[in-house]
Amino acid sequence: MEAHPKFVWFDGAVVPWEQANVHVSTATVLRGANVFEGVRAYWNADERELFIFRNDEHMARLRNSAKIMRMAVPWTKDELTRAQVEVLRANAFEGTVWFRLSLYVGEGEDHIWPPEQVPVGGFILPRLAPHLPRITEGVDTCISTWTRIADTSVPPRVKAGANYHNSRLAVMEARTNGFAGQPILLNERGKVSEGPGACFCMIRDGALITPPVTANILESITRATVLELARDALKLKVEEREIDRTELYVADEGFF
Ligand SMILES: Cc1ncc(COP(=O)(O)O)c(C=O)c1O
Repeated sequence: MEAHPKFVWFDGAVVPWEQANVHVSTATVLRGANVFEGVRAYWNADERELFIFRNDEHMARLRNSAKIMRMAVPWTKDELTRAQVEVLRANAFEGTVWFRLSLYVGEGEDHIWPPEQVPVGGFILPRLAPHLPRITEGVDTCISTWTRIADTSVPPRVKAGANYHNSRLAVMEARTNGFAGQPILLNERGKVSEGPGACFCMIRDGALITPPVTANILESITRATVLELARDALKLKVEEREIDRTELYVADEGFF
């Protein structure tokens, strides 16, 4: 598999990967000032086409992230959707793809006000993302000693690039301690929050239980889908409630 895609959508056009660059003096480089979506496009081998998963929900969450960060979005939902299709077609992928749709703050270290004058650029960076064996085989996990970032400081509801320092610290600690899987982070109240890059659910006494959206988690689109399927298709009892650390030890099952 190639290390990078042939084409990237960058500031309004599909360009060769080598040309998709931002300057060292942009706020995205200097301060990690960007918001993004991580989106899957599933390959249908019979139709030989990619299908983007829950585009409307991803577009809505991107707008919410930008709104909280007071970033004006220079493209409409339809323009960004077309851009996604264009860059996926240009790369002629034949397999499931994960892509990052990012909006970034451009030039001007001190240029953070007024919001409508803050320069915002964008890019879509796709890559092939086959299903990994760990999805069916399971993983070992641990409780991180790092606390999940909080709505009062670096809000996890905003999907910002800079949030992932917290995730990186937790993953590095888990790896250092010999765990191959993602760790589970607790929030500042000591309740279960989420993993570094995924929400957490557990099965206990036949119910599917997951922390509420106020537990310092990303408002995950997969989480919403899993809750819907568990409730409507599997007829499981579903609870969105705080989870204590010790409940993890007596759960029947847990998954990200
Ligand atoms: C911190 C975090 N939580 C949860 C998720 C899951 O979000 P979604 O289901 O919308 O992909 C992600 C996805 O990247 C994430 O980074």
